[in-house]
Amino acid sequence: MRRRGSPISGAAAMDNLVTISGLHAGYGNAQVLFGVDLALPRGQVSTLMGRNGMGKTTTIRCLMGLLPPTAGEVRIGGTDMTGAPPYTIAQAGLGLVPEGRHVFPSLSVSENLRATARAVPGGWTEARVFDAFPRLAQRRRNLGFQLSGGEQQMLAIARALMTNPDLLILDEATEGLAPLLREEIWTMLFRLKQDGLSILLVDKNLQELSRISDRYAVIEKGEIVWSGDSADFDAQRAHVESFLHL
Ligand SMILES: Nc1ncnc2c1ncn2[C@@H]1O[C@H](COP(=O)(O)OP(=O)(O)OP(=O)(O)O)[C@@H](O)[C@H]1O
Ligand SMILES: [Mg+2]
Repeated sequence: MRRRGSPISGAAAMDNLVTISGLHAGYGNAQVLFGVDLALPRGQVSTLMGRNGMGKTTTIRCLMGLLPPTAGEVRIGGTDMTGAPPYTIAQAGLGLVPEGRHVFPSLSVSENLRATARAVPGGWTEARVFDAFPRLAQRRRNLGFQLSGGEQQMLAIARALMTNPDLLILDEATEGLAPLLREEIWTMLFRLKQDGLSILLVDKNLQELSRISDRYAVIEKGEIVWSGDSADFDAQRAHVESFLHL
């Protein structure tokens, strides 16, 4: 097990920021998750992979309090947060860049950033965000709906950073973006990783994922069917890819 910045070693001492166990959830009568187990170590980049419709976004929705699980447990920093509402989860330090962006269309870039901001000493501020995302600085007075898809995605990431999360969750953040913009986002994620931020990624770009991730899990039909660290992923890559049908 690879761990960074910890004075103690061994699986028992594993410092997980989030632990999901035995999670069941669905929509109406349609059950989607059948006992998801997922641990997100502090200070690491974790990746959740899986084909379309396997339950990645549903897992994230349960984690963020957007969908109540029917069974199982979500622990954040050791505290049971199962079924807590989204604002409580956000206060507990989880920040989401949702699938499909969802910036506020009638608010300006600045207003979008401030709407959900949570100030922390030495943390992300509007000035720091504009420094990191010069495009957003140029567009600060534009309304959400006036931005390009790429600019909206940057705004969604910047807005999540303004909540100063302990765990940043990105659900398909590079989906449908031009290559240059994708590159900008991966570069930003590398910088955040270097700063020690814990990150959960859902993405389809295995090449980029394999450069940044420390932990991997594959979900299939609502169950985690494979998980491992970078060394496991490298050694078993063909096996992992067989789940993804690449
Ligand atoms: N709001 C909803 N109402 C009913 N069924 C839903 C809803 N959202 C998702 N589902 C269904 O739940 C299953 C899992 O969907 P989910 O969005 O979690 O998959 P995913 O792994 O994120 O897929 P993708 O890679 O396409 O984003 C799918 O069968 C999907 O059709
Ligand atoms: Mg999804």
